Amino acid sequence: MTPILLSSALLTIGVGLLVQFFYRYRERQEDEAIRARHGCLPPPRLQNQRPFGVDRLEQIFRADSESRLMELFLFHFRQTGSTLEQKFLGTMAYGTIEPANLEAMLSTNFKDFSIRPRRAITFPMFGDGIFTQEGPAWKHSRDMLRSQLQHKQYESLEPFQTAVDDLIQRIEESDGIVDLQPLFFRLTLDTATAFLFGESVRSLITPETVGEQTFSTAFNAAQQWVTKRYRLLDLYWLINPREFRQACKEVHEFADQIIDRNLSPERARDGQKGTYVFLDAVAKNSSDRTALRGQIINLLAAGRDTTACLLSWTFFLLVRHPQVLEKLRTEIMSTCNGKSELCRADLLKMQYLQNVLKETLRLYPSLPVNTRTAVRTTVLPTGGGPDRKCPVLIPKGCALAFSVYSMHRRPDLYGMDAELFRPERWDENMPFQQNSTNLKWGYLPFHGGPRACLGMDFALAEAGYTVVRLLQRFQTIKLPKGEPLELTGVEKQVMTLVVSIKDGCKVEIR
Ligand code: HEM
Repeated sequence: MTPILLSSALLTIGVGLLVQFFYRYRERQEDEAIRARHGCLPPPRLQNQRPFGVDRLEQIFRADSESRLMELFLFHFRQTGSTLEQKFLGTMAYGTIEPANLEAMLSTNFKDFSIRPRRAITFPMFGDGIFTQEGPAWKHSRDMLRSQLQHKQYESLEPFQTAVDDLIQRIEESDGIVDLQPLFFRLTLDTATAFLFGESVRSLITPETVGEQTFSTAFNAAQQWVTKRYRLLDLYWLINPREFRQACKEVHEFADQIIDRNLSPERARDGQKGTYVFLDAVAKNSSDRTALRGQIINLLAAGRDTTACLLSWTFFLLVRHPQVLEKLRTEIMSTCNGKSELCRADLLKMQYLQNVLKETLRLYPSLPVNTRTAVRTTVLPTGGGPDRKCPVLIPKGCALAFSVYSMHRRPDLYGMDAELFRPERWDENMPFQQNSTNLKWGYLPFHGGPRACLGMDFALAEAGYTVVRLLQRFQTIKLPKGEPLELTGVEKQVMTLVVSIKDGCKVEIR
C-alpha cells in the first residue's frame, strides 16, 4: 500500500470512529435526560464473577446440559427481585418478571421494542413467517391467520376428531404402558397440517410414510441449535455447525412435501369445501416456494410443539395428582352424560377442566422465556432503586428478557403454595387478582398485546377435547410403577423454544 493510500485509509477510519464516538456521546446525553425526567434508577444487579459476564453464559450452558435451566432463571430472580440488570457478554442486559413492566414492553410501549435478533438467529430454520416478521409483512401474515383461527372454524371440534381417534387407536394397540409425549407431538402435527394446510399427514397412523421421525428429530435438533444461538444474542453467527444446517434442510424438505401434497391440482379440485385454509390463502398471494415454506414452518412451530407440551405436562401432572384426575373424571361424566359427540361449548362448561389447563400453563407455560430488544431508549415503570419501585431506563439496543415461567411461580402473586399444582386455586381469590395491572399481566402463557398468541382458543379447545376423549375412553390412567414422583419444577426439562419433559410422560393407561 502506498503511503498516500495508507494515510487516507487511516483518515477514513479515524473520521468513522470520531463520528461514532460523537453519536454515542449524544445518545448517552439523551439517555441521561430521559433518566432524569422519569426519575429512573438502576434495578438490582445480578453479580458476575468473571469479566464480560462470561460466567453467566457458562452457568446457562451448564444448567441446560443438566436439564435445569428454568430453575437457574428462577434462582436469579429470587436473588435479585423481579427486575434485574446484568452484564452479558460485555453488554448490559435486563430481565423482568414484573406484570407492569410486561404491560409496558408488550403493549403500552410496544413500538419501543423489536423481536430482534430473533429473525437473524432463527432464519436458517424458520425463514419468513409470522414469528420472524415485523412491520407490514407481520401484519399481513397475522390478518391471513386470524380468519383461519376464528372459533367458528372449530366450534364443532371436528378438526380434532380424526387425530384423537388415531391417538386412541395407537394407545389401544400398546401394552398399556405408554409415553404420551411423542404421541402428543404427532397428534398436534396431524391437527395442524389438517387444519392449517388442508390435509393431515396422519403421522399417528403412518409415521414412516410421512417421514415423521426424520422430521421431528430434525425439527427438535434445529430448534436446539436455534436456542443455543439465542444465548449468544448478537454473536449468534458463531454457532452454525453442519448438524444445524442439515437439520434445517430436513425440516425444509418436510415443508416442501406439505406444499406438494396440499397445493396439488387434484386437491385444488376436490378442496372446494368452502372452509378457509391458511395455506391456500398464502398461495394466492405468492407462489414462491420459499415464502410458502417459511409460513408453514413458522406455524408448525407455533401450533405443534406448544400444544403438545401443554398436553404432555397436563398428563404428567394428572398422574401425579390422582385426586385431581378423579375430580376431573367426575366432571366429564356429569357434563357429557354419556354423550360422545362434543362441541366447544361443552368444553367451556367444564370449569374444572379449564382450571386444570390454566394451572398446567401457569406452572409450565409452553414458551417459558422470551426476549425483546429496545429499538429506542425507553422506560419500564418499576423495579429500580433501593425500594425497587422506581422506573428503569432501558437504553436503545439493550435486550430485555422475560420469563413467564418464573413470574407464574411468584408467591406474592399466587400465594405461598405457588409451586404446587392445585387447579382449585382458580376458584379462589389469588393475590395477583387484587390489582388490575397484575390481573391482566400477571398470568401470561399466551403473552399479550399486539403480538399475543393467535391460537389460544384453538389450543385450549384441542387440549380440552383430547383430555376429555382420553378420560372417557380409558378407565385407568395412572403413574406406572417405578416412575419418579418429584416436586413440581425439579423434574428434568428440555428447553428448545418450548419446555418439554426430559424423560417423557409415561403413564399406565387401559
Ligand atoms: C398451549 C398452546 C400455545 C401456547 C402456550 C402459545 C403461546 C404463544 C406465545 C407466548 C406467543 C407469543 C410469542 C412472542 O411474541 O414471541 C404465541 C404466538 C403465536 N401463536 Fe401461540 N401458543 C399456543 C398455541 C398456538 C396454536 C395452536 C397456534 C396456531 C394454530 C398458535 C399460533 C400463534 C401465532 C401465529 C403466534 C404469533 C403471533 C405474532 O407474532 O403475531 N399458537 N403463542
